[in-house]
Amino acid sequence: MPLLKIVNYPAPVLLAAARPVEEFGDKLAALVGDMFETMYHAKGVGLAAPQVNISSRIFVMDCSGSEDETQKIAAINPEIIYTEGKQTGDEGCLSFPGIYVPIRRNLRAILRAQDVSGNWFELDGTELTARCVLHETDHCDGIVFLDRMTVLKREMAKRKIKRLQKTGKWE
Ligand code: NI
Repeated sequence: MPLLKIVNYPAPVLLAAARPVEEFGDKLAALVGDMFETMYHAKGVGLAAPQVNISSRIFVMDCSGSEDETQKIAAINPEIIYTEGKQTGDEGCLSFPGIYVPIRRNLRAILRAQDVSGNWFELDGTELTARCVLHETDHCDGIVFLDRMTVLKREMAKRKIKRLQKTGKWE
């Protein structure tokens, strides 16, 4: 299976709400397989379709880093139906290479989504799992983690991105 090209901020596809998935079949299953492979190759714990230049409401995640098969989740048409509590922790994003910033998120989140066959499921997660489903569902809504930073951290991150762009280290 081919690796997909991950686009970096500020690619327009990252900043637009993605379209709902209506067709479930071989094509979707193949895309999800490619997204898992691309995510593992990039050593990420989550990857959303807009990050591979596809404006569809799809993400994959695995907070175990392929150590635990039960942690391997594909979410189609994801929505967050419940949140509670707060946590702050360092976060990165494959579309922001080299940027790690503390982000305040909910401590617990319940995700509702469809699997690759179109069956609805819920995932009730805390800590890293909650952080990941919130981050990836945001991607499907055209929200990037820059939008979740404090003003000060956002300005610092933007300056770092500009420096990297100037030196050709950020495409
Ligand atoms: Ni991300």
